[in-house]
Amino acid sequence: MTAHDQHDAVDLIRAKRDGGTLTGEQISWLIRAYTDGTVADEQMSALAMAVLLRGMSRAEISQWTGAMIASGERMDFSGLRAADGTRRLTADKHSTGGVGDKITLPLAPLVASFGVPVPQLSGRGLGHTGGTLDKLESIPGWRAHLTNEEINDQLDQVGAVICAAGSGLAPADKKLYALRDVTGTVESIPLIASSIMSKKIAEGTDALVLDVKTGAGAFMKTRDDAQELARTMVALGTDAGVRTTALITRMDTPLGLTAGNAVEVEESVEVLAGGGPADVVELTLALAREMLLSAGVDADPAEHLFNGRAMDSWKQMIRAQGGDPESPLPQAKHSHTVTASESGVLARLDAYSVGVAAWRLGAGRARKEDPVQAAAGVRMHAKPGQRVTAGQPLLTLTTDDEPRIARAEAALEGAWEITGTADQPEPLVTARITAADL
Ligand code: URA
Repeated sequence: MTAHDQHDAVDLIRAKRDGGTLTGEQISWLIRAYTDGTVADEQMSALAMAVLLRGMSRAEISQWTGAMIASGERMDFSGLRAADGTRRLTADKHSTGGVGDKITLPLAPLVASFGVPVPQLSGRGLGHTGGTLDKLESIPGWRAHLTNEEINDQLDQVGAVICAAGSGLAPADKKLYALRDVTGTVESIPLIASSIMSKKIAEGTDALVLDVKTGAGAFMKTRDDAQELARTMVALGTDAGVRTTALITRMDTPLGLTAGNAVEVEESVEVLAGGGPADVVELTLALAREMLLSAGVDADPAEHLFNGRAMDSWKQMIRAQGGDPESPLPQAKHSHTVTASESGVLARLDAYSVGVAAWRLGAGRARKEDPVQAAAGVRMHAKPGQRVTAGQPLLTLTTDDEPRIARAEAALEGAWEITGTADQPEPLVTARITAADL
């Protein structure tokens, strides 16, 4: 009997459908057999739906994650040494995705400027949230694809690397995520947690901070779901020996004043120069503190935004990947300004609508093989809680393709509200979850 005839997928589907628990051995077999094609897509779809409806225990999620890690390669940065020969702990960040979420761009060089290497293996955007690689590719010459050796060398010499995650990491997740996408099974906390954490653990980081978004523009619409996802991921990381913490952060309105590609790079550079919107600075610093703490560095990250060290680290990181950090960023061929229809307080500016508008302007893609426009996006001229006057610019829409403007405007229908008075927006960071909270 070969390893692949040990179980029958139908038995596993029935067991999960009826609320049973799968053994570690069954899960290892299932993920292996699905990756090599022995278990068919329709069987895995049924099983994913059973998991979505019935859930998984902590042990099952941990075994599922382990099996997905085992389907591919594991990176290893344990060879990185300080001048005195001690091991340099690496730290990474993962965000569950938000509109205007450019935090990785200032965060990676900021943390690296304290001597903590940051291997930030990232993806491209799909749908209404942008992709880190798409944003960086608006910098002339910048290259997303590096070999493992190049990643190691850059971590050693520059400290920060933001590059494409190779296809060798958790290939089972790649196949399963594509299946979940077309079978209505993305929204399962155990499947989301194991999907994210299998890639992050395989990436070989020592410390990880998770930015779990909650609100109208996030995957997790409620605080309870965000808490559960955060706790599940912190538990998975901790069980795998990765120092993992999570911050739960609001995603009702876009982060900062830009959503798109080049516009988000521009805003990130403002933050690295000691300026930029207050919410982007606040979140960058909150996540940097967590990463430094987990890597054993006790320092105030704000210092390096003001003394130029984070900016130096950014320029080195961009140059190391062929980019020119001084080069002007692409400008869009067309722009259109939307103005406030009345005076008052901007009470709401909906993240999801702005994300869809940026996507329709050309900043994002509908299919993974579609190109994106570097200069497409949305600039916001006010944040919720600020006063606006009738006729003042509220949003500027930019694109290379004029007919997209009307489609973006349609996405923005009802996206904001101007009222006489408004409550101050809720705090950005609403909770912190560590291994001690489990
Ligand atoms: N991101 C992932 O990588 N996986 C999921 O399942 C959801 C979001």
